[in-house]
Amino acid sequence: MKYAIVGFGKIGQALAHAFARKNIDVAVASRRPPEALAPQAREIGPTIVAKSLRDALEADTIILAVRFEEHGSVAKALPNWEGKTVIDAMNSQAPLEELDGLLSSAFVAKAFTGAKLVKGFNHLAAATLATDPVVAGGHRVVFLSSDDEDAIAPVADLAKQLGFAPVELGKLNEGGALVHARGDIWGPLIFEDLFKKEQ
Ligand SMILES: NC(=O)c1ccc[n+]([C@@H]2O[C@H](COP(=O)([O-])OP(=O)(O)OC[C@H]3O[C@@H](n4cnc5c(N)ncnc54)[C@H](OP(=O)(O)O)[C@@H]3O)[C@@H](O)[C@H]2O)c1
Repeated sequence: MKYAIVGFGKIGQALAHAFARKNIDVAVASRRPPEALAPQAREIGPTIVAKSLRDALEADTIILAVRFEEHGSVAKALPNWEGKTVIDAMNSQAPLEELDGLLSSAFVAKAFTGAKLVKGFNHLAAATLATDPVVAGGHRVVFLSSDDEDAIAPVADLAKQLGFAPVELGKLNEGGALVHARGDIWGPLIFEDLFKKEQ
């Protein structure tokens, strides 16, 4: 698997720390050129490699860590997303009427034509997500949901490799709704920092 994080702000860097902790290679990209991101990437760890957006999108699993309003611009960077898994780590507080009545991840899925979309790594504050998910006696929980049945397992494997305990919530508008904001109402699992004894 080749991994990329698009968006190298608070959440992108928090996730880069998780990859660095386990020596897993990941490309990081934003609108800025790779030279601008490289010092910060190097500081996080040798497996964090700054790339152009175009080069980063050669990965098969791409974590979206941009502001929700920017997802459309990332989606346009490839003509189609066949064969890619997109992990939506974004939260949107846009009113549902601006999202065609859909939850934000279902709206995002429409923009990334052909991709398998999994919502995950979105429910914690960046400062929390950046810290070691393995604590005495437990692993920090991340919630995963998707309308694509096959897509969750590989993302759950990644979460485990990173030291998290993945909890599968099912489809986006079923269990997944628990980690969505709907307008200005946050899903009840957002910001719940939970630990499991086993991964
Ligand atoms: N902050 C949190 O605690 C938190 C918690 C949970 C979820 N989230 C979600 O995570 C997402 C990112 O939040 P954040 O706080 O990390 O934001 P942030 O600090 O503003 O970082 C956003 C990053 O996206 C890059 N970017 C913006 N537009 C882009 C584009 N079109 N293509 C590629 N890169 C682009 C920006 O870099 P350039 O300007 O260089 O392009 C920047 O590195 C949001 O959707 C937010 O809802 C945040």
